[in-house]
Amino acid sequence: MEGIFITIEGPDGSGKTTQIELLREYLEKKGYDSVVTREPGGTVISEAIREIILNPEYKEMSYMTELLLYAAARAQLVNQIIRPALIEGKAVICDRFVESSAVYQGIGRGLGVSTVYEVNNYALGEVKPKLTIFMDLDAEDGIKRKKNQTELDRMEQEDIEFHKRVVEGYRKLAELYPERIVPIDATLSVEDIHSRIVSEVEKRFFK
Ligand code: TMP
Repeated sequence: MEGIFITIEGPDGSGKTTQIELLREYLEKKGYDSVVTREPGGTVISEAIREIILNPEYKEMSYMTELLLYAAARAQLVNQIIRPALIEGKAVICDRFVESSAVYQGIGRGLGVSTVYEVNNYALGEVKPKLTIFMDLDAEDGIKRKKNQTELDRMEQEDIEFHKRVVEGYRKLAELYPERIVPIDATLSVEDIHSRIVSEVEKRFFK
């Protein structure tokens, strides 16, 4: 596969969307057709699964059901959108991917990171990101930013301890896989964050 696959991770409210748009513009300037997508979602089926997962009324959802639904949404997105785009040589930027499952379900819910990767291997096949940007922001700050914006979904309604475990989980993963997962301080300015992301992209794809 010749394309470029980059994922962006971080707690809710860490500013992923703004950075994804700037990164897309940068990759287009470099001559890449770009596909921007998100998880859970990005296809009709995956968006339908997203509605189920995030519906605040489904308080009885078991953690394993949650893990498998995220993986199912991912399998559809990989097969329908990401793999074909990479085969065509495009740049794919995905707002969240398997590391979200590793930290939210693996660490936040306590299902275990290795269980999460094992289940997700079926969804991913050989499709793995070469670079994962982690927007590093304390859980309290992310939640504050979100609360100002919208009604909270089923995951966002979790207590602060859950969200702290998620952020700690991301930090741990970034330490474990430093060659792929790059933490960037999400409290920096939009421009500073973008230029850090660009330098990581250049190191990996344009040298
Ligand atoms: P979003 O608000 O960034 O669109 O993401 C939806 C929520 O789903 C967010 O709280 C993170 C959570 N999530 C997981 O728990 N596991 C996953 O695998 C993914 C992709 C997202």
